[in-house]
Amino acid sequence: MASSASRTLLLLVVVVVVAAAVGGVLGGGGEERTFIVRVDADAKPSAFPTHAHWYEAAVMAAEGGGGGGEWREGGPLIHTYSAAFHGFSARMSPAAATALAEAPGVAAVVPERVRQLATTRSPRFLGLLSSPPSALLADSDFGSDLVIAIIDTGISPTHRSFHDRGLGPVPSKWRGVCSSGPGFPPNSCNRKLVGARFFSAGYEATSGRMNETAEVRSPLDTDGHGTHTASIAAGRYVFPASTLGYARGVAAGMAPKARLAAYKVCWVGGCFDSDILAAFDAAVADGVDVVSLSVGGVVVPYYLDAIAIGAFGATEAGIVVSASAGNGGPGGLTVTNVAPWMATVGAGSMDRAFPANVQLGNGQVLDGVSVYGGPALQSGKMYTLVYAGASSGAASSAADGYSASMCLDGSLDPAAVRGKIVVCDRGVNSRAAKGDVVHRAGGIGMVLANGVFDGEGLVADCHVLPATAVGAAAGDKLRKYIGSSTRQAPATGTILFEGTHLGVHPAPVVAAFSARGPNPQSPEILKPDLIAPGLNILAAWPSGVGPAGIPSDGRRTEFNILSGTSMACPHISGLAALLKAAHPTWSPAAIKSALMTTAYIKDNSNGTMVDESTGVVADVFDFGAGHVDPMRAMDPGLVYDITPVDYVNFLCNLNYTEQNIRAITRRPADCRGARRAGHAGNLNYPSMSATFAADGTRATMKTHFIRTVTNVGGGRAVYRATVRSPEGCAVTVQPRQLAFRRDGQKLSFTVRVEAAAPAKKMEPGSSQVRSGAVTWSDGRHAVNTPVVVTVQAPLQ
Ligand SMILES: *[C@@H]1O[C@H](CO)[C@@H](O)[C@H](O)[C@H]1NC(C)=O
Ligand SMILES: *[C@@H]1O[C@H](CO)[C@@H](O)[C@H](O)[C@H]1NC(C)=O
Ligand SMILES: *[C@@H]1O[C@H](CO)[C@@H](O)[C@H](O)[C@H]1NC(C)=O
Repeated sequence: MASSASRTLLLLVVVVVVAAAVGGVLGGGGEERTFIVRVDADAKPSAFPTHAHWYEAAVMAAEGGGGGGEWREGGPLIHTYSAAFHGFSARMSPAAATALAEAPGVAAVVPERVRQLATTRSPRFLGLLSSPPSALLADSDFGSDLVIAIIDTGISPTHRSFHDRGLGPVPSKWRGVCSSGPGFPPNSCNRKLVGARFFSAGYEATSGRMNETAEVRSPLDTDGHGTHTASIAAGRYVFPASTLGYARGVAAGMAPKARLAAYKVCWVGGCFDSDILAAFDAAVADGVDVVSLSVGGVVVPYYLDAIAIGAFGATEAGIVVSASAGNGGPGGLTVTNVAPWMATVGAGSMDRAFPANVQLGNGQVLDGVSVYGGPALQSGKMYTLVYAGASSGAASSAADGYSASMCLDGSLDPAAVRGKIVVCDRGVNSRAAKGDVVHRAGGIGMVLANGVFDGEGLVADCHVLPATAVGAAAGDKLRKYIGSSTRQAPATGTILFEGTHLGVHPAPVVAAFSARGPNPQSPEILKPDLIAPGLNILAAWPSGVGPAGIPSDGRRTEFNILSGTSMACPHISGLAALLKAAHPTWSPAAIKSALMTTAYIKDNSNGTMVDESTGVVADVFDFGAGHVDPMRAMDPGLVYDITPVDYVNFLCNLNYTEQNIRAITRRPADCRGARRAGHAGNLNYPSMSATFAADGTRATMKTHFIRTVTNVGGGRAVYRATVRSPEGCAVTVQPRQLAFRRDGQKLSFTVRVEAAAPAKKMEPGSSQVRSGAVTWSDGRHAVNTPVVVTVQAPLQ
């Protein structure tokens, strides 16, 4: 049967101004800012004793002999890079940057950007939890030679999740350091946490000296996000673990024996590119095996994206880079960190829920979720319900009403909310902060209601007062109920906290916030790659930070429940470490292929996974290849491998200039091989994405993909192809059978895709997504490769 629903995406017109001259990209005006400069390391004139001397001189010359640039202690350089990347970062004027781009030996000049952590805990951070790994992984030393780099907010070194009992010596290849500082004494590292560093020079060059009361100049995690993500990837077994009584059980990361190295790059003011690149550079030099990056991306071409550039250097060094897809869902074209050499990870739910339903005075019960763990509301008592948007102070203007509806700081009238349960709209400030605002105004409880934009996606939070979250439909009912109440018959209700429920159906579902495709940079590459648990994840939390993540939260808890693609990413990072331990010779692309081709798209109700925001069946732009299946990924049968040269060919086929390609790769680009590859979609990726323009001139549209698979199943095997054609498309595979005689053997095949033009005229600018798959199977392995066809109507 032809598969998969088609859906209409609003075509977002992304105007990427690819300036011909690099000067155009570097911007006008005289304001100094940070630039990242790539050099040809071999081009250093011999007159300079070190690369740093050369870089300094080059910046001074570009600034016109020392005028303009403000003097920095230690010279103009912020960081120098030599492992993942060759070059440096420095503050300079755009004019100087333009001049520098023309200087001999300079390959590229890229303006710095600032990133945010990819959690749903707006405006700052979020978290995650793993499903119990098998006994094999728990008891053996499996994965203990591997080091996972966590590029994040630092780490809490004393947490039980990072103890080193029973671990062998630090792997001999490890060359990293344990930087000390406030709250992080020199003996903070051990055989589990083998290294820790912090990078703040880029942050401080732009934001000024950090406030050392609010944050600390050491690898110590004063936020919680980095501790949470590190323990998801590689936390030890800790029992009992729970947050305020919820989700009781054993806490463990995906690779409990793998070693961790923390690279702190995210500060109160954000995560700065020059620091992130310094962390990549150090991680490569230190000898890590996997980089885990739960930091949001930016929508710029790969040659202007410091994360894509740093990740390329790491990939070339054999390191797997796993990154969060971002939390901009459920809208289309929101996925970030989309370079094909990274694993881009979206978030799904688990079969666990934290119901906290709202019972109304009219008898209705509205479904909600919460991990509030303090004193409960009085049993059996109905409280007056009030909508915050209708309760702002006496001088209530429209603007005040809006602030109050969101429960922004200082917007609530204590006289109107005291002793009541307050309904606040989701958005603007963080969910936990709204609870704090209600609490301080004297409210006794809170219901956080989604608006239309949020849909039905819910995130459970550790609120500071009895509080729950409800979806858009329930929110409407609630506002209507309150709106129809009178002084004589006030709206009433209470919140029923039901603790932790397991065995929830359907699960997994695609989390509403999880960022969606298509890939805004190169639609030829399907993104996100796959999804992993990222909703309501229990993991380690620092002792000095309250679980709600707001300063007034004085509670302390050893674990916390957070949500976001930030929490999904380290699941994949930990699994990548396990795969590398099992298959030491596999490339990063082979490891990613194993994770993707064994992923599943069915939920535990036997249907295709649904989208949490709508309850409707999700598609490949929501979940990529599907939800990760750790045990099957260990033995994928076949892998799609990719070498660094293949990525260069891909960039050539994106029509990047030689200079742009050199900004990403370290070698001068040779695009002759690219012509053989034919088009960017022929990168040997474990998914296939065809985009057609339905301009009404052709009845059918055609393309083809060439792929090569490597036999990793051990010895002889015969694989046969089965095709699930996308709706309205004909997909054929040639040959239909691949007979392998030995392990490691590579065989190629061609996939032809023919799509019928849409029967009805499409809305201008809209697009249809049709998805299918090619599956190679030898009776023991099933190697699934998604095929997605996007038909786009012209804008007019
Ligand atoms: C530094 O942070 C502390 C704690 O957040 C705050 O009280 C203080 O005002 C800040 N100092 C400056 C100079 O911003
Ligand atoms: C799903 O299908 C499998 C095999 O067809 C069956 O064993 C299982 O009981 C089904 N589960 C549900 C929840 O329907
Ligand atoms: C690159 O340029 C060629 C020739 O102009 C064109 O056919 C192709 O579609 C372009 N590719 C991309 C990815 O823009």
